[in-house]
Amino acid sequence: MLEIEDLHVQYGNIEALHGISLHVKSGEMVALLGANGAGKSTTLMSIMRLPPPEAPRVTRGRIAYNGIDLLPIPTHQVVARHKIGLVPEGRRVFGNLTVLENLKLATYARKDSDQIDRDYERVFSLFPRLSDRKNQRVDTLSGGEQQMLATGRAFMGGAEFILLDEPSMGLSPLLMQGLFKVLMELNRAGMTLFVVEQNAHIALKYAHRAYLMEAGRIVMASNASDLAANPQIQKAYLG
Ligand SMILES: Nc1ncnc2c1ncn2[C@@H]1O[C@H](COP(=O)(O)OP(=O)(O)OP(=O)(O)O)[C@@H](O)[C@H]1O
Ligand SMILES: [Mg+2]
Repeated sequence: MLEIEDLHVQYGNIEALHGISLHVKSGEMVALLGANGAGKSTTLMSIMRLPPPEAPRVTRGRIAYNGIDLLPIPTHQVVARHKIGLVPEGRRVFGNLTVLENLKLATYARKDSDQIDRDYERVFSLFPRLSDRKNQRVDTLSGGEQQMLATGRAFMGGAEFILLDEPSMGLSPLLMQGLFKVLMELNRAGMTLFVVEQNAHIALKYAHRAYLMEAGRIVMASNASDLAANPQIQKAYLG
């Protein structure tokens, strides 16, 4: 589904990714692990083609999605036509709007209104807390509820493939498990997921495969259980 090959990315004159390669197959849940500053968010932003000034600049390599070169494609088409959704770091939901308004905004480019209605039902059954708070202003939601909303919003955008940037950030262990259980449920229903995480414990518990990133390079790639059993990983990332 997603194929990244020898990707080099710069901010200004500074190279942040030094030739990474990875892939995510349809139906998989894959984790990208690594410490602060490793280049995880940069990888996601490169896939989404976000506009400047945030945009990392790709100087070499290839990103293909279902065989199509994503690099010349603008973000709105990556979302609307290629059905890739991003749950960004820090969530970036609209605080002055309600839960329902935030979800509605995500559907603006969709025309399949019957499916949209079914998707609302699905989001509210996956996240009952959101259902109870449909008309609540989002800046009054808890951090965990905002994370649920950000995930629901990617789903309401009609995504078939969702990229998540540190979904566990700021969540209690209980909410974290709850969120990953929902992600697993979505994945079992056919959603492909690529999850960036610093929390290797939770990511390796739920993902099929994982990549480990250090200083702009992929240094390890394996199925999740092998990585979790790796002494080096245990020492550095699993405490
Ligand atoms: N807009 C930017 N301009 C310049 N350098 C940047 C920019 N964004 C990120 N970087 C640098 O690129 C490197 C990778 O950053 P990135 O945000 O991808 O890391 P990360 O793995 O997501 O880290 P974290 O876990 O802290 O979110 C870092 O050295 C960072 O300082
Ligand atoms: Mg990051």
